[in-house]
Amino acid sequence: MARHTVADMRAAHAAGSHFAVVTAWDRPTAEFAEAAGIHFMLVGDSLAQVALGHESTVRVGMSEMLHHTAAVDAPTAAENAARLIRDAGAGAVKLEGGVAVAPVVAALVRSGVPVIGHIGFTPQSSLNESKPRAKGRLPEAAAALLEDAIALQEAGASAIVIELVPQELAAAITSRLTIPTIGIGAGAGCTGQVQVLPDLLGLLGAAAPRHAGRIANLRDEAIAALTTWRTTVESGDFPTAAQGIAADATLIAALDELPR
Ligand code: KIV
Repeated sequence: MARHTVADMRAAHAAGSHFAVVTAWDRPTAEFAEAAGIHFMLVGDSLAQVALGHESTVRVGMSEMLHHTAAVDAPTAAENAARLIRDAGAGAVKLEGGVAVAPVVAALVRSGVPVIGHIGFTPQSSLNESKPRAKGRLPEAAAALLEDAIALQEAGASAIVIELVPQELAAAITSRLTIPTIGIGAGAGCTGQVQVLPDLLGLLGAAAPRHAGRIANLRDEAIAALTTWRTTVESGDFPTAAQGIAADATLIAALDELPR
């Protein structure tokens, strides 16, 4: 499949069309996404909770996953971003925050790194919240989010993820931007949509967020299949000859000569 770039996101925004994004952190999920024709994959830090079982996204660092771009100062962000693009093959990096991180975004863009912003609910700076909370419900907060979005656009961001924001606000922000938005829990008015793949496919025991609109329950299928396999191991029915490597006649004869 041809690799899509942030330029394709912009083209979709300009054409009024939509694109789909899912998280992917390993070969199986990347293969699912590619085979399903998903336009973009996000190596997002939600992997901390969803794949690694950590309490929060901040538990993932560069040394662990080479994907974490939330550096607080421009030199570190530039160095991390360069590693993601150059060493890990990323097409862009995603950075949480609005007005406050706009100078970092501008510095990255100047150094040639395509940046995707992230506003609304931003997990890395929401550690004091016991659960994800919608943002921009009040007029002042809504105006601040628009200001964040515009600051990111002016800083040269290629697109902006908008998370957990009233759908009318996300649509209003999208219509005021020239760059695409990518919604998660932000309604259909965004240019693209992103979801955490295990939430979509029902891979986890914990309830998925309502906005994920789960489309399958693969966890139950996986557990049922593994339970069946485990019982065949216990009963001695696995493996059968079909899964084995047959010895030839010479080896079989030699086996009889092996010391007891
Ligand atoms: O970084 C991430 O994994 C995300 C998802 C919640 C979309 O932003």
